[in-house]
Amino acid sequence: MGLLITNANLTSATPGETGYAPSTATAIAIHNGLIAAIGDKKRCLQALSSTSTITTIDVQGQLITPGLIDCHTHLVFAGNRAREFEQRLSGVSYQTIAESSGGILATVSATREASEETLYQLANERLQGFKNNGVTTIEIKSGYGLTLADECKMLRVARRLGQQADIKVVTTLLAAHAIPPEFTGNADGYIDHICQAIIPAVANERLADAVDVFCEKIAFTPQQCRRVFETARNYGLAIKGHTEQLSNMGGSALAARLGAYSVDHIEYLDTEGVAALAACGTVATLLPGAFYFLGETQLPPIDQLRRLDVPMAIASDFNPGTSPIASLRTIMNMACTLYRLTPEECLRGVTIHAAKALGLDHDRGEIRVGMAADLAIWRLSHPAELSYCIGVPDLTARIVDGHYFPQ
Ligand code: NIG
Ligand code: FE
Repeated sequence: MGLLITNANLTSATPGETGYAPSTATAIAIHNGLIAAIGDKKRCLQALSSTSTITTIDVQGQLITPGLIDCHTHLVFAGNRAREFEQRLSGVSYQTIAESSGGILATVSATREASEETLYQLANERLQGFKNNGVTTIEIKSGYGLTLADECKMLRVARRLGQQADIKVVTTLLAAHAIPPEFTGNADGYIDHICQAIIPAVANERLADAVDVFCEKIAFTPQQCRRVFETARNYGLAIKGHTEQLSNMGGSALAARLGAYSVDHIEYLDTEGVAALAACGTVATLLPGAFYFLGETQLPPIDQLRRLDVPMAIASDFNPGTSPIASLRTIMNMACTLYRLTPEECLRGVTIHAAKALGLDHDRGEIRVGMAADLAIWRLSHPAELSYCIGVPDLTARIVDGHYFPQ
């Protein structure tokens, strides 16, 4: 079956002239879930000549972009941290709360207690918020289980979410998120457990596509993260890191040199770190939601990243502690207002660069012949509007792997 879209205002996100300013009256031919042709209607029909049935959708000048990609979320968890939010507003820091067994560990308790079914229902409700924002691919991390059984439980939930036809899910093991109560005072012992038991089992069951760490004073040292990364690589898993969020530990350069797809947060990244990302082709993933929600003031080194042409992705970091914001569009706006990114950088940040942060840039994140037909159709006329307004229900439909899902 073929799908022919006509009269689109097309923003492909591909670097170059047509990547941003929309090209008008464009047709797109979709065959077997892939983009078969782009351009005038006649040529697109030709590309579909071998197909017996063709469905045509005239989008009447609406804007079409690649489906949005949220490349960093912690969507699966139970409970919430509204009381911690109140504590922080009265002046207690995120670090202090973490050190007194609150923070991440509070969500770990609630998540361990929740059944797999409950976690699925909770995450699925949140996922709807992202779909309503035009998201067609989402990354989901574990990291609130911190035992083999509970990390696997979270990852199974993420995999099950990905069985829905209208979303692609990439899963990431984040066992090195915090030191669990069973290993208090013995972070190295927990790292041993991650490397000897959790990563092998998760790899064996194919529950994760990548492995992440939290490299920070309140979490794990660069040496400990290196062990996790090396083990992950030995099991054929991709790596990425929560690095330089609250202080400069050198985690980003370490991750980049070991081949990380992305390093995320990076408010405290220094010049040497930026150079390492540039040299290694690592994506800098910016998470302005966490910056906003924690009331941070240290800005990531955006100008240096620009100067060295480091691809910048933007993601929600959706989680109960630092970014309970289930809206990638809001995050795009924050990237403009808080980090001074341009709307064009934001568009690339949630499409082509987000795809690269997930190792998916060979087939997602751009509207290009041969790539997966993942598209978002908007009642908008220019892609700058995606970063400009918040909360306006301007999405008409998403197309995922060539299947049409109206709003
Ligand atoms: O990306 N920095 C570490 N992890 C999450 C926060 C997790 C939490 O507080 O529950 C983040 O900000
Ligand atoms: Fe995160």
